[in-house]
Amino acid sequence: EKGGYDHFMLKEIYEQPHAITDTYRGRLLANSGIIRMAGVDDHLERFVNAKRIIIVACGTSWHAGLVSEYLFEDLARIPVEVEYASEFRYRNPIITENDVVIAISQSGETADTLAAIKLAKEKGAFVFGICNVVGSSIARETHAGAYTHAGPEIGVASTKAFTTQITLLSLIALKLGKAKGSLSNALYHSYLQEMELIPKKVEMLLKTDEKVKYIASIYKDATNCLYLGRGYNFPVALEGALKLKEISYIHAEGYPAAEMKHGPIALIDENMPVFVIATSKGHYEKVVSNIQEIKSRSGKIVAIVTEGDTQVKEIADHVIEIPETEEAFTPLLTTIPMQLLSYHIAVMRGCNVDQPRNLAKSVTVE
Ligand code: M6R
Repeated sequence: EKGGYDHFMLKEIYEQPHAITDTYRGRLLANSGIIRMAGVDDHLERFVNAKRIIIVACGTSWHAGLVSEYLFEDLARIPVEVEYASEFRYRNPIITENDVVIAISQSGETADTLAAIKLAKEKGAFVFGICNVVGSSIARETHAGAYTHAGPEIGVASTKAFTTQITLLSLIALKLGKAKGSLSNALYHSYLQEMELIPKKVEMLLKTDEKVKYIASIYKDATNCLYLGRGYNFPVALEGALKLKEISYIHAEGYPAAEMKHGPIALIDENMPVFVIATSKGHYEKVVSNIQEIKSRSGKIVAIVTEGDTQVKEIADHVIEIPETEEAFTPLLTTIPMQLLSYHIAVMRGCNVDQPRNLAKSVTVE
């Protein structure tokens, strides 16, 4: 049932090229310039006139929500707030009929997310669900929605659910950008074409597995790790850190790279591995200077860079290259080596990768 893989997590990491294709199949019609999603099409007015989008989710799904904050603001010019469902529901939040609430959940059963949806509905908001499990409670409780179609995710650590959620959110942001006219036609079309190339690029990245495994063998005994990224890749840094702590039990923190100097830099010494996302388009020069700051304090640097990078290569201890893509789509690629890294470190430490201690696949208690 693991299809020849040692663990479900590895199988699910490797399924991502297909899972992403399944997410956009029938929805993305790149050649005709159409994105077709019944759940959005049927309520297009509500989306287009939304004063605000509020995202509610937990864990990895919350990280996908954070990526979508950049997508919606950048492509569709809609203000976004991303909320931990558990905080949102107990805060007497301000919600109006002009808000669109998007709930993101792989399982569709997360208790806090479900409660946040009920609250938003009571206040008159339109609630849209992004779930993986068909017919789940959240799918039923929302006004409309779209499934990620990632297929069953068994490993407790979320992998393909995350990348397919981002795929779906990208499609919605592009669709709204087009409908609102905030995105030029030329740009819209080039995004659509590029999206079709993502599964191939993810497949190419999976070929870095051996190299990532080697890097994992060097850092597997670390007690602390830092993950840094900026812009679209700040949430990926958070997700990288979550993945490492949940399956390898190594303490890890994700930070926006520029926040380093406001505290965490004090932690840097020769025992601190720092995983930095430094792709070519997202504030590259700024990230390079962040990397220099780490280097001058003897931190160990593993950088995720864009193919052909020369500058970071000179400073970093190890680099992993990702293929060129639109900045907005880089999270779909930079995530992959992060997942593989956590996986290999956890396996090397003898951890139960698919069923980490103290965790359940879906958190149905509050
Ligand atoms: O099923 P959901 O997406 O609602 O689950 C949310 C979180 O419990 C989940 O993402 C959790 O953080 C994962 N174990 C992370 O890998």
